[in-house]
Amino acid sequence: MGLLLPILLGFLAALIGGLYLLGVFRQRRLGEPPLDKGLIPWLGHVLEFRRNTFKFLERMKQKHGDVFTVQLGGYYFTFLQDPLSFGSFVKESREKLDFRKFSVQLVRRVFGYTALENEHIVLQMNSNKHLQGAGLEAMTQSMMSNLQNLMLHNIGSPADQRTWTEDGLFMYCYNIVFRAGYLSLYGNEPHKSEGSEEKDRAESEALFYEFRKYDQLFPRFAYGVLPPRERLEAQRLLGLFWKALSIQKMKTKENISRWVWDIQQGKEEIGIKESMIDRYMFVLLWASQGNTGPSSFWLLLFLMKNSEAMAAVKEEVNTVLKEFGQEVRHGGPLINLTREMLMKTPILDSVVEETLRLTAAPLLTRAVIQDMTLKMADGREYLIRKGDRMAVFPYIAIQTDPEIHSDPHSFKYDRFLNPDRSKKTHFYKAGKKVKFYNMPWGAGVSMCPGRFFATNELKQFVFLMLVYFEFELKNPDEKIPEMDFSRWGFGTMQPDRDIQFRYRLKY
Ligand code: HEM
Repeated sequence: MGLLLPILLGFLAALIGGLYLLGVFRQRRLGEPPLDKGLIPWLGHVLEFRRNTFKFLERMKQKHGDVFTVQLGGYYFTFLQDPLSFGSFVKESREKLDFRKFSVQLVRRVFGYTALENEHIVLQMNSNKHLQGAGLEAMTQSMMSNLQNLMLHNIGSPADQRTWTEDGLFMYCYNIVFRAGYLSLYGNEPHKSEGSEEKDRAESEALFYEFRKYDQLFPRFAYGVLPPRERLEAQRLLGLFWKALSIQKMKTKENISRWVWDIQQGKEEIGIKESMIDRYMFVLLWASQGNTGPSSFWLLLFLMKNSEAMAAVKEEVNTVLKEFGQEVRHGGPLINLTREMLMKTPILDSVVEETLRLTAAPLLTRAVIQDMTLKMADGREYLIRKGDRMAVFPYIAIQTDPEIHSDPHSFKYDRFLNPDRSKKTHFYKAGKKVKFYNMPWGAGVSMCPGRFFATNELKQFVFLMLVYFEFELKNPDEKIPEMDFSRWGFGTMQPDRDIQFRYRLKY
């Protein structure tokens, strides 16, 4: 008996400690948002969240309103879903809400890259320098010649002229846009070498198929729920990309973008090991190529399903081409689509924005570094605990809110266009102007630095498709596919199935 009591007490203490760690005893304190821990200790709602983030957050919003805290796999996440209050999340200081801490953990787990404290400046500086303004000129040129190499390489072969080619629209768009983007960022085979364009095509094709394998594993990899065999496959793919994008490999290339090159150099200068930089090159490939291809698919599909939009964009594209004295004709020179031309397409701009509104669904997350007060636009205040996380999911809160965007699930090509063809930026909720009316690129410290280049890429691809090709859905009554629900929160959504289309050269 003398020994039994301490053992029992010890067991009890361990049990209580364990339950504490599992979050069983957490209670909502005065001033905190509604707390929903779910039924399963520690896991909380993570299974439902992972199955369909959109549906889960809609359910929670209906149950608790526009601010609530839920338990997800050991973390407490407070979701802010009031668009008028997004400023409090986006502009909060780094001392309170930190993006880096969260992203560093994810990048280590999913890409095997260990970041140094404060190295983010290298990415920021070089993105500001090379992915916007004057830096974008060179990238646009490079993208243009790579797109034309990939899209038109069989232009001279009589067998391919004017005959329809059938393909899956998703795979076609993703393939072309990924490969052209990859070649523009990571460089071409040296032009001195024989058949360099053909080598570019073959190498980028092989890389795309490996990328797609990783892409499909990615959501479950990020959630840490890959079964062992697929985990091994993900590791194999990582190894393959580290090698394919390594500094040594890149030294054999030409036309490497200044963005990639200077980031490499910048990392070397602050003492990051070469093998780590090789790994980082895949982080950049992932960030730069995982969204643009799927977005280009939705864009072409929406145009094909909406004849009014298609006619308006075609007219705009033809007008710009003419205005710049260019013409596509059989046997004539390739067109030279410049950045200046791309800045004269307000209708296409609105189409891109509308496509992203409907299909880009990132989950923006921050680590809560110290206890803080969340101030809402209507004067409510909520206490948020240190150690928790905060998140916003603009897809529900903004992009598909019927008060901000009428008939929000329909594609309206001119939604972001004023009658005078300037960009429409005035949107309202409850009579108040909404500052954040579309957030495909995120916002604040983590806002996508590649957004200008990405928009350019999408516009270039569509422009070239329209001027060089005729294309149509194999079945004109084809329904727009559902989204693959496992990808909510990871950027641009992908369809749950591909759809067939056909295309042929116009001239
Ligand atoms: C349609 C295409 C794209 C979409 C929808 C998109 C969206 C996003 C979003 C939402 C984020 C922020 C994620 C977060 O807050 O957690 C992000 C980050 C990022 N994007 Fe993009 N992106 C696109 C294309 C690109 C391109 C073409 C590049 C580069 C050339 C790029 C480079 C990056 C990088 C480097 C980051 C990480 C930024 C950081 O850690 O501070 N993205 N992107």
